[in-house]
Amino acid sequence: MSKDTLTITDNRTGKTYEVPITNDTIKAMDLRQIKVNDDDFGMMSYDPAYSNTAHCTSRVAFIDGDKGILIYRGYPIEVLAEKSNYLEVAYLLLNGELPNKKQYDDWEHNITHHTYVHENIKRFIGGFRYDAHPMGMLLSTVAALSTFYPEAKDIFNEDVREIQIQRLISKMPTLAAFSYRHTMGLPYVYPDNGLSYAGNFLNMMFNIAQKEYKPNPAIEKAIDVLFILHADHEQNCSTAAMRNVGSSQPDPYSATAAAIAALYGPLHGGANEGVLQMLAEIGSKDKIPQYIDRAKKGEFRLMGFGHRIYKSHDPRAQIIKKIAHKVFEVTGENPLLEIALELEKIALEDEYFVKRKLYPNVDFYSGLIYQSMGLPVSMFTVLFAIARTSGWLAQWKEFLNDPESRIARPRQIYLGEMNKKFVPIGKRK
Ligand code: CMC
Repeated sequence: MSKDTLTITDNRTGKTYEVPITNDTIKAMDLRQIKVNDDDFGMMSYDPAYSNTAHCTSRVAFIDGDKGILIYRGYPIEVLAEKSNYLEVAYLLLNGELPNKKQYDDWEHNITHHTYVHENIKRFIGGFRYDAHPMGMLLSTVAALSTFYPEAKDIFNEDVREIQIQRLISKMPTLAAFSYRHTMGLPYVYPDNGLSYAGNFLNMMFNIAQKEYKPNPAIEKAIDVLFILHADHEQNCSTAAMRNVGSSQPDPYSATAAAIAALYGPLHGGANEGVLQMLAEIGSKDKIPQYIDRAKKGEFRLMGFGHRIYKSHDPRAQIIKKIAHKVFEVTGENPLLEIALELEKIALEDEYFVKRKLYPNVDFYSGLIYQSMGLPVSMFTVLFAIARTSGWLAQWKEFLNDPESRIARPRQIYLGEMNKKFVPIGKRK
């Protein structure tokens, strides 16, 4: 008879334990009862990069890495990219359902009317060096926002929480664009609330002396789709950071700043910047084999390749590849595209990459699109952060409403020494 339990025999003691299986998972705490003797702390599981550890239950997003499927709240990413827009997707992630017309209009109105930032934030950005990285500026200004909204600490008050969510989603493009304008030495452009979310971002980035900025519709649409594709990705490094930091119950600005910091790294959101640097370094098609060889020897990582979860293809990369052509029709082809296509072709045929199931990920082509739009490389991860804010907040909200949530506090296996004798400094070797 089949039973939803797992029987474990401890060969050290010969004892047998039966632990329940729920959703194909056993609870790590159920291992604690496995002891050699009464003084034993009990068994733990060891999983340094959480490769096989579910740290929460979630209903926000789902990935099937073998089939290359990404779903937000039940909707395949391909459908949302084609039929929806970023603000609607943000609402979906945060609230679990697509908005009706009235809900959408209210949501759009609320987001649009929180786009301005306090003038002191502008001065705060002005304090950074001319060459400060926009990600560093973004993460610090998001953290600084917490000082402007002290009421945000009231995280279990749903109304207060909702306003902070709206503020964060609406102010991210403003902070991102102001950071960019600062590095360019250009005056800040205030939000134009008559434009779409993506259109307003382009306005704040690129408007020079135009009274009514009109974004190119193809570019505006491409940015919006890229925002949809980056909006959530279940328990990735930055989302795990959002949940982990959120678990000590700070305000959402502080938790979001932590998530932005996690995203900044080159193995996560920073990879799109790395792709462009890599393509520029390769420089010409004839040098590709030499870089592939170095990657195979472990001397070099092909940025934009590989993924912890996707082992057939990254569905976001496929959608992005299609958008790329539409953008290049407006901007002209990016000269690095030729190198990217050839690199992809060679890598996909090479046994090293095939065996390890290393495919182009979301970052492989997004950087080429951003560069063609005139965005500097340092802004690529910033765009990722704008889009991912809705996902981070949806996951944070879900965490706060989860009765099983507690402060995150992993365990360790201590391999260090014990009871060492203290030697006074004068007698140390
Ligand atoms: N180039 C060359 N070899 C690679 C690459 C790569 N990009 N990625 C993985 N490998 C090799 C790695 O050396 C290892 O080989 P071996 O088994 O012989 O030691 C094997 O493939 C498995 O790699 P891993 O590092 O154990 O895989 P992981 O799941 O820990 O890392 C990853 C996933 C995305 C961090 C990694 O593939 C990587 O560093 N890729 C480049 C950076 C990148 O594009 N990151 C963006 C990820 S998608 C957007 C996001 O979520 O932020």
